[in-house]
Amino acid sequence: MSSQEENQNKNVNKNVSAKIVDKIKQIQSHSLPSLPSLPSLPSLPDFPTYEECMRKSKEFWESFTFFSKNNYEALDRMWARGKDFLGTKYAIMGGAMSWLSERHLVSAISNGGGFGIIASGGMKPDILRTEIQAVRMMTSKPFGVNVITMHRQIDEMLDVCIEEEVTHIVFAGGVPTAPHIKKVKDAGIKVICFAPTLAMAKRLIRLGTDALLIEGSESGGHIGPISTLILAQEILPHITEVPVFVAGGVGTGGALVSFLEMGAAGCQIGSRFVCATECIAHPNFKKSFMRANSRDAMPMIQIDPRFPVISVRALGNEGTKHFIAAQKEAIARFENGEIDAKTVQDEIEHFWVGALKKAAIDGDVENGSVMAGQSVGLIDKEQPAAEIIENLVEDSVNEISKRRKLLEG
Ligand SMILES: Cc1cc2nc3c(=O)[nH]c(=O)nc-3n(C[C@H](O)[C@H](O)[C@H](O)COP(=O)(O)O)c2cc1C
Repeated sequence: MSSQEENQNKNVNKNVSAKIVDKIKQIQSHSLPSLPSLPSLPSLPDFPTYEECMRKSKEFWESFTFFSKNNYEALDRMWARGKDFLGTKYAIMGGAMSWLSERHLVSAISNGGGFGIIASGGMKPDILRTEIQAVRMMTSKPFGVNVITMHRQIDEMLDVCIEEEVTHIVFAGGVPTAPHIKKVKDAGIKVICFAPTLAMAKRLIRLGTDALLIEGSESGGHIGPISTLILAQEILPHITEVPVFVAGGVGTGGALVSFLEMGAAGCQIGSRFVCATECIAHPNFKKSFMRANSRDAMPMIQIDPRFPVISVRALGNEGTKHFIAAQKEAIARFENGEIDAKTVQDEIEHFWVGALKKAAIDGDVENGSVMAGQSVGLIDKEQPAAEIIENLVEDSVNEISKRRKLLEG
């Protein structure tokens, strides 16, 4: 490149640089549009230090644990007498249910902290013995045996309980005789009896019962005429000599805590345990329970006052009609002189045992008897027995917490 060309290039570069500098000056001279003025912000509180945060959260959780621990202890105190009597973690008895309260359900309830009870109504003595031994193999926790006073082999049934060193017997289906109570008590077995009235409760205490069960008409299976709430008010304030357990319609912690406040030592639950995973009830039977409303569990009617049948609460179905037909047929045979009055009642009782098996075990929920308490309306799922028990305990603790808050304002 010649020196002339070189000079020309330098001039071009100078011009370009001067233009760029001008442009920059132009841009820099542009003033920005003014921003709208911002509202003044409230002054922020001083942030707590990390240590303060930790201290506050620790205080909160400590007070929470203290609170719930207190409520749990309160429940423990409320049913201490029942727990001591049964020898269990919780004073919750799994009410005996014919065909269903066998080794699986009984051991599951006892392992879950409750008190499982074998229903021996439909068993013969040798079957009862096998069942007691089987439960022992499945749990080391306490359990009892429900013995029906009208059982044709009641003496042999009691002998089996004594030989197998059963700790608690529940006499059901009527008032046990004084010799039967004495026989088992002499063997060191604790006796629990159903008290349908205050007068009967006092009589049973004189006969030596160690505890009482009051079972209201909300229950499933064979029922009396009086509701749980009335029986509780009639009996609980007047019986202090022995622990009293309440059965029939206990489905939530609210009901349980209320009965404990009224003086009960614990409760007995039947229907809820039908839908325990471990219960051997046919899936159709369980499904009927999960679908039913409380009002579907109706007491069966008695057609002739000369033959007072013990009322049975069950879900209405074709089986209800079969029951009425069975009563009519037995009464007609009585009137023809074919059978006596006692046989009529025996036949009616046998009808139930067979009808319950048909529904509960064979799954014929249309023609069999789906015995269920009114608490059936509170059941909507199948759960392990231990979970049913824990849920009820948790619900009761929450209930105590609610009441405490209500009282403390
Ligand atoms: C299907 C079924 C069968 C029952 N069988 C008996 C029984 O054999 N002996 C007995 O004393 N109670 C029997 N009961 C009553 C229960 O043991 C329990 O006291 C009652 O169900 C409690 O009421 P709930 O169902 O509202 O919990 C039975 C109850 C049901 C639902």
